[in-house]
Amino acid sequence: MLNRKADITPIGESQIQIYIDDEPVNVVEGETVLSAIHAVQKNQIMQNDYKANLGAYCGMGICHSCLVNIDGKYKQRSCKTLIRDGMRVTTMSNRFNDMGIKDNQPLVTSADFEEKVASSDQPESEDSNVN
Ligand code: FES
Repeated sequence: MLNRKADITPIGESQIQIYIDDEPVNVVEGETVLSAIHAVQKNQIMQNDYKANLGAYCGMGICHSCLVNIDGKYKQRSCKTLIRDGMRVTTMSNRFNDMGIKDNQPLVTSADFEEKVASSDQPESEDSNVN
């Protein structure tokens, strides 16, 4: 369980729980995902496609510096998303892995690439040059 250390006013008894990076967190109805993330003192929230770590900037949906994975969907603005019971939030996630390949995309091997090049290098038949 992640402790909410940064709340200005204690949230009291909470019946709703979400998971931030697989850790349960008590939240209150009407709260945004960003509010819950900040309450547990996480400031680095996302990693962009160039591997730069970012934190929320505007807090109102403009800067796109708070993108997280919510229930398996990448690039969700945490500042514009209200919490739902049982929601799973992953910070610092990116749809591209370290090899620059999009998550859930089939891996194209060099053999696949060579086969594609070989099939496109077929010489045209002599008949195609006849006018
Ligand atoms: S903090 Fe700017 S879009 Fe969420």
